[in-house]
Amino acid sequence: MNLQGKRILLGVTGSIAAYKAMELLRLLTKRGAEVQVVMTEAATKFVTPLTFETLTRQPVLLDMWSLAYSHRIGHIEASQRADLCVVAPATARTIARLALGLADDFLSCIYLASRCPVVVAPAMDCDMYEHPALQENLKRLRDRGVRIVEPDLGPLASGLVGRGRLAELADIVAAIEGVLLPVQDLEGRIILVTAGPTREPLDPVRYLSNRSSGKMGYAVAEAAAARGARVILVSGPTALPVPPGVDVIHVETAQEMYEAVLAKLAMTHVVIKAAAVADYRPKQKAERKLKKEQTVREIALEPTPDILAELGRQKGHRILVGFAAETDDVVANARKKLQRKNLDLMVANDVSQPGAGFDTDTNLVKILDPQGNIEEVPLLPKRQVADRILDRVAALLKK
Ligand code: PMT
Repeated sequence: MNLQGKRILLGVTGSIAAYKAMELLRLLTKRGAEVQVVMTEAATKFVTPLTFETLTRQPVLLDMWSLAYSHRIGHIEASQRADLCVVAPATARTIARLALGLADDFLSCIYLASRCPVVVAPAMDCDMYEHPALQENLKRLRDRGVRIVEPDLGPLASGLVGRGRLAELADIVAAIEGVLLPVQDLEGRIILVTAGPTREPLDPVRYLSNRSSGKMGYAVAEAAAARGARVILVSGPTALPVPPGVDVIHVETAQEMYEAVLAKLAMTHVVIKAAAVADYRPKQKAERKLKKEQTVREIALEPTPDILAELGRQKGHRILVGFAAETDDVVANARKKLQRKNLDLMVANDVSQPGAGFDTDTNLVKILDPQGNIEEVPLLPKRQVADRILDRVAALLKK
């Protein structure tokens, strides 16, 4: 009964998977949630409102213009009462409505009026799911903080085989629980996370840098804070908002990151280094902007401090997690870095794969440990990858 007293709005849309929403409803009510169902008109072609009304003993929200709601503003009231809104199954059309903010049915009006967390579980044919228009709409929703529960791979109603099957109901329930009741398994721990690129200046206006957006590191910081850790985020330049409850130290160069990390090291239990630190910097920085005619054609470089290698030397009982962005011999190269830097875990991204690595919302990683084990994590949003890494950190902290 871990969802006791939680008020959940369940949006059901016009997919063949609509019948699974009844079982989802049962799983949620079994956990103590109070569920209000909202159906799109298309959903009623697959399942009847009567079934949901019988299961919830409440009228289904369906028709914005119904006389039943004439004495109050139904969509506003429903959205204000809810602790969470879940749309399962969510069709391509409803996802587009939510992404565009089209308030043309009860469900999309509720979404616009709501201030509660939203979980969306898409279900459709695989070609529709992979279409850039659909993926762009999902990205918009993710960027707004909507939790997307990726559909599964498998045979589809169309006869095709691919990604598009509504996710397992247990995974949807887990996502809802994860949003409403994040585990507090990192409570009392201090976790330092580094994120983003570093910039190594040539003169006051030019620098050497890389493509890191900071998304991976910020996702780790956000997830660790949600799990109860005190999080110190040492961030290179990014355009991202600081996650709630996270203390941030902004740095620019590898040297500044080195100093910021070392200054906080003594208080930390865990360091997770998602930053893409420049390995080299210009040997000389001009104090004033170099003129075109003065601009050097060759830049002499010198190595930056290897922060993680230094942490490996001062390791003690601290847990150290590194990242490796690789294109060739991913596992072998990541393993060498794990050993050389004396790490507990190494997260290897194969950045040659679509959807993985720099400036993507998703990542495809393998988590390596010193015992030679490799955990293969499927392509997931970076926030979910962050939780998979933190599951491993939490297990190491328990030892
Ligand atoms: O920021 P995003 O756009 O979301 O992209 C995510 C990411 C690809 C940047 C991230 O997931 C990632 O892989 N970061 C590490 C990039 C990398 O290749 O690091 P590296 O192989 O150069 O270094 C290995 C480890 O040593 C890293 O943890 C790095 O932070 C650390 N390091 C490296 C050099 C240095 N001078 N000091 C360090 O601490």
